[in-house]
Amino acid sequence: MALLDILVYPDPRLRNKAKPVDRVDLAIQQLIDDMAQTMYAAPGIGLAATQVNIASRILIIDISDNKNKLQAFINPEIIRATGEHEYEEGCLSVPGVYARITRPSAATVRALDREGNPFEVTADGLLATCLQHEIDHLDGKVFVDYLSRLKQERIRKKMHKELRQQEPEPGRRQAI
Ligand code: NI
Repeated sequence: MALLDILVYPDPRLRNKAKPVDRVDLAIQQLIDDMAQTMYAAPGIGLAATQVNIASRILIIDISDNKNKLQAFINPEIIRATGEHEYEEGCLSVPGVYARITRPSAATVRALDREGNPFEVTADGLLATCLQHEIDHLDGKVFVDYLSRLKQERIRKKMHKELRQQEPEPGRRQAI
């Protein structure tokens, strides 16, 4: 397994739109393993392939306390979204920044698993937020896009400042 580099906002490569995976083969499974190692090391609870500069529609999530329930979603599609809730989101590509974002509170997602088998999940709470946040990444979108222009500008300045200085302090909150 290998640790991958995570792109940091406002890197323009975070705007790439990921392409569907044609075939789930060993190379895709290897990529999922590398993404998992990268996500756990960060540490984070979700990671999209876009964030490691790979333009394939793959995301992984593990919201379990013991970090032993990895879920991989290949070619994920939201087929239904209902309700509304607000959650304080963070992102491994925007280290140290957290903001309250409103999204549908429940989402049904169809995808392929690590073996290439289709499945469907209806998620609510944190999992629903994570899935929508990660699918946004695959579409070239970052959670700060939902904030006002002024806030986005402040975050860009903060990122530039931190890149000049050093690694941001590890946050106590979870980043996706
Ligand atoms: Ni993110």
